[in-house]
Amino acid sequence: MSGRLANKVALVTGAGGGIGRAATLKFSAEGARVVVVDFDEKAGRKVVGEVEAQGGKAAFAKADVSKASDCEAMVAFAEKQFGALHVIFNNAGIFPDEDGSVTDTDEAVFDRVIAVNLKGVFFGCKYGIPALLRAGGGSIINTASFVAIMGAATSQSAYTASKGAVLALTREIAVEFARKGIRANSLCPGPVNTPLLQSLLADPARRARRIVHLPMGRLAEADEIANAALFLASDESSYVNGATFLVDGGTTGAYVTPE
Ligand SMILES: NC(=O)c1ccc[n+]([C@@H]2O[C@H](COP(=O)([O-])OP(=O)(O)OC[C@H]3O[C@@H](n4cnc5c(N)ncnc54)[C@H](O)[C@@H]3O)[C@@H](O)[C@H]2O)c1
Repeated sequence: MSGRLANKVALVTGAGGGIGRAATLKFSAEGARVVVVDFDEKAGRKVVGEVEAQGGKAAFAKADVSKASDCEAMVAFAEKQFGALHVIFNNAGIFPDEDGSVTDTDEAVFDRVIAVNLKGVFFGCKYGIPALLRAGGGSIINTASFVAIMGAATSQSAYTASKGAVLALTREIAVEFARKGIRANSLCPGPVNTPLLQSLLADPARRARRIVHLPMGRLAEADEIANAALFLASDESSYVNGATFLVDGGTTGAYVTPE
């Protein structure tokens, strides 16, 4: 199948990383012109090159999603470059090692995680929604996580709090703009094999502590999450709105996993 995003313009934040890159390549393969947003210019431009190598159209916009002015500029860039904006994938996020138990996490770490993971989504919507309205409607995909709906003894307090808030914010947006042609959904991946988890997964004990709780016994690949983002971006999901869209291999449904 191809052309599921024909004539659409999509903006993907954190597009230089694991899930964002995979989604960008899929969106492009399905006909979208993609604005590749990242604060890592090298990674972002590399992805633009990959899109062009597969015959697609993409343009890079450097932005730190925790900054309002950067987010305003990335949306203006999308409209200027490609004439309109139809899909916003607010995907950029951080997961620092220093984020731990609520009793140990420094205020500065908490603030930074909230600034990127939550305020970044807020800014993407704040500046992106007027553009979607100008285009006659569109789809917003905000990346939360399976940790937004379950607790873990291996705490990442700021990260978990930020992702729970993304769920709540996204539901509100979904309802407010439902009659204006805009859908908004939270994409909730389970653990994914991307650079985000690299330092955690490099430690065999920390890795094993988590794998045992995954019914499928493995992490997701970025492509498996990008497939869900593509569905939510496309008109195939035309009645999916305000969803907590879990792509977690059954992890949030599990009590005891197979041996
Ligand atoms: N990997 C997982 O296990 C997992 C699980 C659930 C949810 N998620 C979420 O999925 C999203 C993507 O994660 P990933 O695994 O692809 O991560 P990743 O680290 O591979 O990629 C993240 C990208 O975001 C960019 N980025 C970080 N901060 C930014 C900022 N302030 N402004 C602009 N760009 C910024 C990075 O440069 C990087 O290219 C994140 O929101 C993450 O929280 C990941």
